[in-house]
Amino acid sequence: MGVTGATRDGAGAGGERSADTVAGMTVEPGGPTVVRVSGPVIELDGMGDAHILDLVEVGHEHLIGEVISLRGERAVVQAHEYTGGLAPGAPAWLGSGPLTAELGPGLIGGVFDGMLRRLSVMGERLVPGARAPTLDPERRWRFTPRVSPGDHVSAGAVLGTVPESEAIEARILAPPDVAGKLEWVAAAGDYTTAEPVARVGGRELRLAHPWPLRAPRPGGMRIGASLPLSTGQRALDLLFPVARGSTAAVPGGFGTGKTVLLQQIAKWCDADVIVYVSCGERGNELADLLEEISALQDPRTGRSLLDRTVMIANTSNMPLMARELSVYAGATVAELYRDMGYDALVIADSTSRWAEALRELASRTGELPAEEGFPASLAPALASFYERSGRVQTLAGGVGSVTILGAVSPPGGDMAEPVTAHTGRFVRTMWSLDRDLAYARHYPAVSWTASSSRDVAPVAQWHSEQGDAEWAKRRGRAVALLADADRVQAVAELVGVASLPDPERIVLLTGRLLREAVLQQSALSENDARCGPGKQAALLAMVLDLHDRALELVGRGVPAARIEELDLSDAARARERVGPDDAAGVEAIADELLARLGALG
Ligand SMILES: Nc1ncnc2c1ncn2[C@@H]1O[C@H](COP(=O)(O)OP(=O)(O)OP(=O)(O)O)[C@@H](O)[C@H]1O
Ligand SMILES: [Mg+2]
Repeated sequence: MGVTGATRDGAGAGGERSADTVAGMTVEPGGPTVVRVSGPVIELDGMGDAHILDLVEVGHEHLIGEVISLRGERAVVQAHEYTGGLAPGAPAWLGSGPLTAELGPGLIGGVFDGMLRRLSVMGERLVPGARAPTLDPERRWRFTPRVSPGDHVSAGAVLGTVPESEAIEARILAPPDVAGKLEWVAAAGDYTTAEPVARVGGRELRLAHPWPLRAPRPGGMRIGASLPLSTGQRALDLLFPVARGSTAAVPGGFGTGKTVLLQQIAKWCDADVIVYVSCGERGNELADLLEEISALQDPRTGRSLLDRTVMIANTSNMPLMARELSVYAGATVAELYRDMGYDALVIADSTSRWAEALRELASRTGELPAEEGFPASLAPALASFYERSGRVQTLAGGVGSVTILGAVSPPGGDMAEPVTAHTGRFVRTMWSLDRDLAYARHYPAVSWTASSSRDVAPVAQWHSEQGDAEWAKRRGRAVALLADADRVQAVAELVGVASLPDPERIVLLTGRLLREAVLQQSALSENDARCGPGKQAALLAMVLDLHDRALELVGRGVPAARIEELDLSDAARARERVGPDDAAGVEAIADELLARLGALG
């Protein structure tokens, strides 16, 4: 079952209540009963043995919910499914633990809902109460053991491997609560996720194991996040980098390009596994992404990008409450691959739509609203999501990471609103999208004044260790030139360009080049959609060199007007003209432009 933990196969509830028989399950007299329904919030009576976050199945459809508060025999349950038609008096069944899903091979390339129920096609709406397995129970996976009987197996150890996709070799891990001597391991061969492949301390282990959807997996010791995640987007990698295991948020008003930017990262970043969680966004956007990702090739592996992607769909047409769980489910899946020693990335679009679910829940449960109707638990809930990031020494002795990126859609572009403000406290990097840039079709509309990254220093250090000691210097010069150009532009609007001193006219010119040749990036151009580190550095160096040479010329008395008349449009075209990793191609264009400039002096 995709969703387990409850009274499986009717075994948990015996007896009979008013001759009510549901799905082969007889209802016990005096068992839990619905007393009140308010949207996704259900109050149940007769819940003596319940614990917080226990799974509950409610009503004849067996809607899935979780206990969120308890008082005596009464429990409040958050339903993850549409509760229309449910009425007081309906029966309910208490599960034997939290909501879990089977984690194992078959997640990659799959599309799931917020409870990790597998969807057969994007946009599929499961009927309420449906039990769709997370993993295909029929599928056989080629297992190669890596351990021998008699070996000591500790939690998180690699028992063997399975080729999960063309790009990802799944490492079959001993579940976190297993340790002991290996009594038996299956021979190399093909197994379903239901069949045992090893035995430790009398316990049979399979290719998959159930895991509570909300629960963080124990990851081993944290190590510093110092390796950059290459997003392939210049405005991010050059100015506001994010390290593997770190966090970033993309706040931006309506239509400023949050989804396009996050989708570009999903396609072109160099993480091993991408978990893309769509929370309350338009379903067609996700369907398009799935189609594109299936057709595109990963430049690193040459395989389909789908071979490294897991999609969790809780689009705007799906029940609001499942959004709440979906981001945690996404983090759990990412942690599984982290534990295998991979760099995983979780993308949540949008955390504001996710927070709407919290607000709805709070209003139904009567929780006291704090800011703008959001409960006081908004901040801890956001923190508990972003805290799932990190780079760790895995229990198997490798290194893996979870990086988390979230879109934030502040209503009216108000950056002081609660979701944006709290998110800013928990993430290390903010990629703020600017409405004016988006209107001017400067894409991605990443603001160089409102964005920030606390990963600049470790990433600069890493570049330096890799032999590029100039990375930080180029970044510093770019940031300074952008600020200078903004300042000069403001003056030019008052007094006119002709009244500016020559060096300031150069700042205006090369500031524009920096925006057009480096920061703007077309998501639609084959050459430009992804930009490798070498080409990124070459494009920025080109603009900085042109800037230096032009300043040198005006210093020697060449009028700025003559430089302005020069056709430098090839600089802005370079990003689309040469391939994503063709630094030499950019350098050739730069040399040509520098020669043209040099001819003036
Ligand atoms: N990098 C880009 N290249 C080209 N066009 C872009 C780019 N980014 C955004 N756009 C344009 O802006 C439009 C809106 O972008 P997008 O849907 O990503 O915005 P959003 O911030 O996610 O909007 P919403 O607030 O509705 O979720 C796109 O349909 C596209 O036309
Ligand atoms: Mg969007």
